[in-house]
Amino acid sequence: MKATVSIIILTALFLWGVPSGLAQSTRPPVDSAATTGRIRAMREQMARNQEITQVDYGRMLSALGISNPRPGRDPNNPDAGRIPNYDELSANPYVHYPDPLVTFDGKKVRNAKIWKKVRRPEIVEYYEKEIYGRIPANVPAVNWKVLSEEKMNMGGIECIYRVLSGAVDNSSFPGIEVNIYASIVFPENAVNVPVVIDFSFMAGKPSPIAVSFGPAPAKPKESWQMQVLKRGWAAATLIPTSIQADGGHGLTSGIIGLCNKGRDRSPEDWGALRAWGWGASKLIDYFEGEKAFDATKVALEGVSRYGKATLVAMAFDERIAAAFVSSSGKGGAAPWRRNCGEVLENLTGSGEYHWMAGNFLRYGTDPLTADDLKVDQHCLIALCAPRPCLISSGRFDADKWQDIMGMFMMSAKASPVYELLGAKGLGTDVLPMMDEGLMDGQLAFRQHSGGHESGPNWPFFLDFFQKNVVERK
Ligand code: GCU
Repeated sequence: MKATVSIIILTALFLWGVPSGLAQSTRPPVDSAATTGRIRAMREQMARNQEITQVDYGRMLSALGISNPRPGRDPNNPDAGRIPNYDELSANPYVHYPDPLVTFDGKKVRNAKIWKKVRRPEIVEYYEKEIYGRIPANVPAVNWKVLSEEKMNMGGIECIYRVLSGAVDNSSFPGIEVNIYASIVFPENAVNVPVVIDFSFMAGKPSPIAVSFGPAPAKPKESWQMQVLKRGWAAATLIPTSIQADGGHGLTSGIIGLCNKGRDRSPEDWGALRAWGWGASKLIDYFEGEKAFDATKVALEGVSRYGKATLVAMAFDERIAAAFVSSSGKGGAAPWRRNCGEVLENLTGSGEYHWMAGNFLRYGTDPLTADDLKVDQHCLIALCAPRPCLISSGRFDADKWQDIMGMFMMSAKASPVYELLGAKGLGTDVLPMMDEGLMDGQLAFRQHSGGHESGPNWPFFLDFFQKNVVERK
């Protein structure tokens, strides 16, 4: 009722010409025909992408000799009995989690040497073959260029804003071009400064003021870039979709398509999460060649799907010194074996399978289930050990699709590997309260009281990075 009244009042005001001041302002009038045209074109593009995705998905299923993948959970489809589960009593259908410190052939890993020589490589191999796919041997070189550079003042700090483009050598298949888009803001006269990279949904010049979404009582007012600059470091933004599109329709283009010379993926080929992680590694290559930055002190951060990519990147590239894995959920820090919020079958469905290797689709199709995987995500977190890694989430009721309890469980179960390698894990298996981080070790966990975002946890991560990497002796 209230909404109807407001609409009537607004319409009346508009008709009576109250906003006529707008017409005299410098804002150009909205060209409604052009806008409608744009929207129609975007809809058509999305429909075409959907069709291409369905064809690609079907092709991958037949390459694997499977059909009828089980459907994922869907909060909008309660009728089909697919509503997500949030009841802890039924969230753990499987009792057994593989022990990260026991090899696949049953031997206990008793020291760091066996972890590094035997156990770590076999877990890496398993993740590459069955879950995220491999970076191809023929992946071409990236040639970084400065697209533009300008001086700017960010909240009183004189700094340089540089926009970069990483052109991937496409001489083997000129039909596909890949230009990785990144930017970096750093203090003027910076020499050898640590860098924090954010896998970002948005490109553009940083602002000193925070943009933050969702309910959160205690959000920092400064943007993460401002917080980084104030510590004297550099803040980089990397746009994952410039590396690989976020959809099944894009698998024959982007870096995955280029390596396959435009052909379809085979089941062991990499998915988008691995490709995005590869892009972060290439940006670190760039830092290695620049005096302004210290490539041994690079942290990576991402939220949600980019939280997943952050954890994947950190697990595989040991040059990444620290990670801020934010609201990563299934495919990130949450266990495949839990039935809480999103489930494995969502990631083997046509909307998300492109993040994964094709082989992974088998686990979402009878007779295989999550319980047939020889690892769970504590093993992925363990691949980051002993490097500092913060697993974080929003509030239990505002970020529940990501399975907060599950992410905590996986961090607790990865802790023995941190300890074996001489670092400190969580030190408890009791979920801490909101806004009470377990931040003393090198593996850390913090649930903030905001929503599905990293905003409120930034200051805590930056302290953690400072203590464990920047000031490390
Ligand atoms: C969807 C998806 C999640 C993902 C999220 C995001 O909700 O199911 O796995 O984390 O999108 O990236 O925002």
